[in-house]
Amino acid sequence: MNKFVVTLLLAWQPWLVSAGELEVLHYWTSGGEAEALNVLKSMMKKQGHVWKDFVVVGGGGESANAELRQRVVQGDPPTSAMIKGPDIQRWARLGFLQDLDQLAQRQKWDDKLPSLIAEVTRFHGQYVSTPVNIHRTNWMWINKKILDEVGAKVPTTWDEFEQTAKKIQAHGYAVVAHGDQAWQDATVFESIALAVGGPEFYRKAFVENEYPVIKSDTMTKVFAQFRRVQPYFKTDLPSQDWNMATDAVIKGEAAFQFMGDWAKGEFEKAGLKAGRDFICAAMPGTHNQFLYNVDTLAMFKLGNKADQAAQQDLANAIMSQEFQEVFNLKKGSIPARMDVDLSKFDDCARLSRKEFHIAEQNGALLPSIAHGMATTARVQEEFYSALHDFLHSPEMNDRKAMVILAKRMRYGSYAIN
Ligand code: BGC
Repeated sequence: MNKFVVTLLLAWQPWLVSAGELEVLHYWTSGGEAEALNVLKSMMKKQGHVWKDFVVVGGGGESANAELRQRVVQGDPPTSAMIKGPDIQRWARLGFLQDLDQLAQRQKWDDKLPSLIAEVTRFHGQYVSTPVNIHRTNWMWINKKILDEVGAKVPTTWDEFEQTAKKIQAHGYAVVAHGDQAWQDATVFESIALAVGGPEFYRKAFVENEYPVIKSDTMTKVFAQFRRVQPYFKTDLPSQDWNMATDAVIKGEAAFQFMGDWAKGEFEKAGLKAGRDFICAAMPGTHNQFLYNVDTLAMFKLGNKADQAAQQDLANAIMSQEFQEVFNLKKGSIPARMDVDLSKFDDCARLSRKEFHIAEQNGALLPSIAHGMATTARVQEEFYSALHDFLHSPEMNDRKAMVILAKRMRYGSYAIN
């Protein structure tokens, strides 16, 4: 081999060893979501890795888990997958996740993440997943022009919401753009439950799955409030995807959307500004309370050294301040790392972090059941179905709905997950 070729090979070798393929399972397909993910893709491409999207369409990740299970069972896991909450522990318990603890020690993740978030991403004390953000689900998004035109203020209770809704209707606008999908119903319901029952009720019912708390008069009241909101839903959207509902608010076709702060990514992508064009506020009755939803990317155990190195680079990048800032500016969430400065962020993000801390102090920082943070996928599935059926059965009374929910959730928690 001539000297020139040898030199060339040596020079290229590090690249050859470390360039891996990153096949990443996710469901970030809306405009704002895709833009946020591009931040990570280009960071990885710059390091020489090949990025391959493994997209499972479906907001809220409804279909993603099933696809992941399928691939893992076939012995062909992706490099990385977006998984959340107790699912992280489940995959780790089964022995499929890469241990990220060495990297975590080097980068001092313990000092940078709120303890609650760190806990979600650890299994037996060791990090097995990387948190990209902190989403809050109990938000409402308001078209400011409509609110100003009807002369209303941001409602802070459900009674005020109804008064405002009537004014909005009187001016000929639709009130709440809402996608008719079970996970979107659940996103609204969990915030109503928090408002009506308070944090302790929420924790006992949806985190601890205590049957007498689920099967209770308080839960009947939650259903009653859910029913009162339903007539204000506008569901005649071009499709039932959540971002179509956001689009209706952006275009001034409806005044509100009840949705997590990934919706903000759509407003921003459309060039709208928080405070000037749209308002973010806690759902009625949930001021200073925080339902969290943390997206994490876990790395699956793989044999190939180059892919393992790529996984380390991916985890390393995710936990960098730079990524956490740029990604979350586009995603609508706040950084999982609390040491990332929010000076480039808008008032919604600042409010989010402020209320995160207040809620943390008051026992009102709670995992979202609608987004897979509070309980097993099996219980969540029963929760979804009970709510969706209720909204689609106008004759069903609130008490009956409550009993069905309790039974379904109990069945879900006994079923093998
Ligand atoms: C995820 C978000 C995503 C949203 C809509 C949520 O469950 O945590 O990252 O943007 O669903 O798909």
